[in-house]
Amino acid sequence: MRSLIDILDLSVRELDELTDRALDIIAHPEKYAHACEGKKLATLFFEPSTRTRLSFEAAMYELGGHVLGFSEAASSSAAKGESVADTAKIVSCYADIIAMRHPRDGAAYVAAHNAAVPVINAGDGGHCHPTQTLADLLTIWREMGRFDHLTIGLCGDLKYGRTVHSLVGAMSRYEGTRFVLISPEALRMPDYVLQSMDRQGIPYAETADLDGAIPGLDILYMTRIQRERFADPAQYERLKDSYVLTPEKMAAAKETMAVLHPLPRVNEISVTVDADPRAAYFRQALNGKYMRMALILKLLDEAKMPTASAEPELVLGRYRCRNRRCICQTEQELAQAFRLAENGVYRCLYCETAAE
Ligand code: NCD
Repeated sequence: MRSLIDILDLSVRELDELTDRALDIIAHPEKYAHACEGKKLATLFFEPSTRTRLSFEAAMYELGGHVLGFSEAASSSAAKGESVADTAKIVSCYADIIAMRHPRDGAAYVAAHNAAVPVINAGDGGHCHPTQTLADLLTIWREMGRFDHLTIGLCGDLKYGRTVHSLVGAMSRYEGTRFVLISPEALRMPDYVLQSMDRQGIPYAETADLDGAIPGLDILYMTRIQRERFADPAQYERLKDSYVLTPEKMAAAKETMAVLHPLPRVNEISVTVDADPRAAYFRQALNGKYMRMALILKLLDEAKMPTASAEPELVLGRYRCRNRRCICQTEQELAQAFRLAENGVYRCLYCETAAE
């Protein structure tokens, strides 16, 4: 069963096809108004969400389908101790496709491997957020007119911000992409993301200086400092005001630069930037709905076809995952499973943390 756990589950050709499909939906919504008649989407949100959940639900309604689900863990059987694996099995009895958000890294993998219907990762802890990347891609296309030869500044919480991890994965596959990683030292991009860029020869620079970086950027992707992922609240307090984008800072940017933000924003973009035509973040939220429509259509279509997915070779029992936020720390009897990744490094199957 084809699911979307990681943005790399989709080939570049598929990303381009989803973008084209979303543009067609924008141009001819009536063509799609009955495309999912009789189908049900379950939105399983164990973590807060406004845009992602509501845009999934709006997407399914606009395709003529139905929606069921829950918007907080407290109103599901997770509150009674039910596992993600069991929840996925149960919901497969009631829905044709699942969109799930969960606070644990790797939870989407577990759901997808236990569900009998396609599972879409709507955010798993601090790990990935592939459908946000789909929204980002359509925004880049509509704002910049191309995916290649772009210098992309990622600013803020690059450690816990799952959206930037997925965005790096997608944009690394287009020619001429360069990244400027702008963060405080304590919130640097995780090693596994840096190593994947090294392996592919993607140029990137790390800096803490937004002012110094801004004039060279084609895209500035701002992120929220992810308060809910900090183990130490005092550290959050120290870092929360690291970056604030203001009209003064925007004055040094290119006329054609686009400002993206997955939202919600706290204070990292001043509201006085909203009137700047380069502020694309509200348009980005709308784009998310169209890309989710395109994705639902694709996965429901593929669910009709038999698939033989190649599972990676696993090492069981030799290592223990040391990521305390990984789903393998809480899910009952979940195997400690590692797969061989780059350069002989073994990584947790669920959250990608390297074995030690
Ligand atoms: C993001 C998320 O949930 O990771 N929000 C979203 O889905 N648009 C970003 C965030 O919460 O900061």
